[in-house]
Amino acid sequence: MKGVILAGGTGTRLRPMTRIINKHLLPVGPYPMIYWPIKKLKEAGVEEILLITNKKDLESFELVLGSGEELGVQVSYKIQNNAGGIAEALSLAETFVKDDKFIMILGDNIFQDSLTPYIESFQKQSVGAKILLKQVNDPARFGIATLDENRKHVISIVEKPEEPLSNLCVTGIYMYGPEVFNFIKAIKPSERGELEITDVNNCYITNNQLQYDIINGWWIDAGTPESLFLSNQLVYTELKKSMEEG
Ligand code: G1P
Repeated sequence: MKGVILAGGTGTRLRPMTRIINKHLLPVGPYPMIYWPIKKLKEAGVEEILLITNKKDLESFELVLGSGEELGVQVSYKIQNNAGGIAEALSLAETFVKDDKFIMILGDNIFQDSLTPYIESFQKQSVGAKILLKQVNDPARFGIATLDENRKHVISIVEKPEEPLSNLCVTGIYMYGPEVFNFIKAIKPSERGELEITDVNNCYITNNQLQYDIINGWWIDAGTPESLFLSNQLVYTELKKSMEEG
């Protein structure tokens, strides 16, 4: 399976640092943030990776990652010219993905769980997409999923709800088939002028084709100063634990 990582955006919430450096190159533990989603993909056997970023940041990513040798993966790059949202950025992956299933990760999502079991179950899934949910304390910041009463299906997702119906956040780890590009073509920009990934996922729900899992380990979107700090704490704790375990 192939992997797509989104590493563009303006990093508004991390200014002033992000005036001179792309958010995904800020340190998380001993590495730039972007290493972590790449490592998670590699660990799950996903070695062919497309990284989508802004024109001005491409050179920095190439300096840091090259074509991925150091991390044992093959990284290719694509430039996102418009700040048109996650789904707009994903549409740039169509020629890379071709007819395959793939996994997309938002480059600022740092998480503990291995992706392997989720990817394996998605590989067995005959149609549709799979998202990974996590309980959060601040649901108004995220895409929030509501489940049916048997907790079998996601019945709706609302982006940054003012009055959240649950605390189940849609994490930035998405598994899709190539049909996703047709859904992207069918959606319209939201009020904030972006093609929302939540609207894409709601297209899958309408077609009864969205599966989900709930991740157990910690998960963090490192896009604010506080969550960046927290992700550093979590990563160093994890590293210390693995050193102690030898
Ligand atoms: C994006 C998605 C949101 C998701 C979040 C996860 O939000 O729009 O649905 O829950 O990533 O990190 P953003 O970080 O762009 O505000």
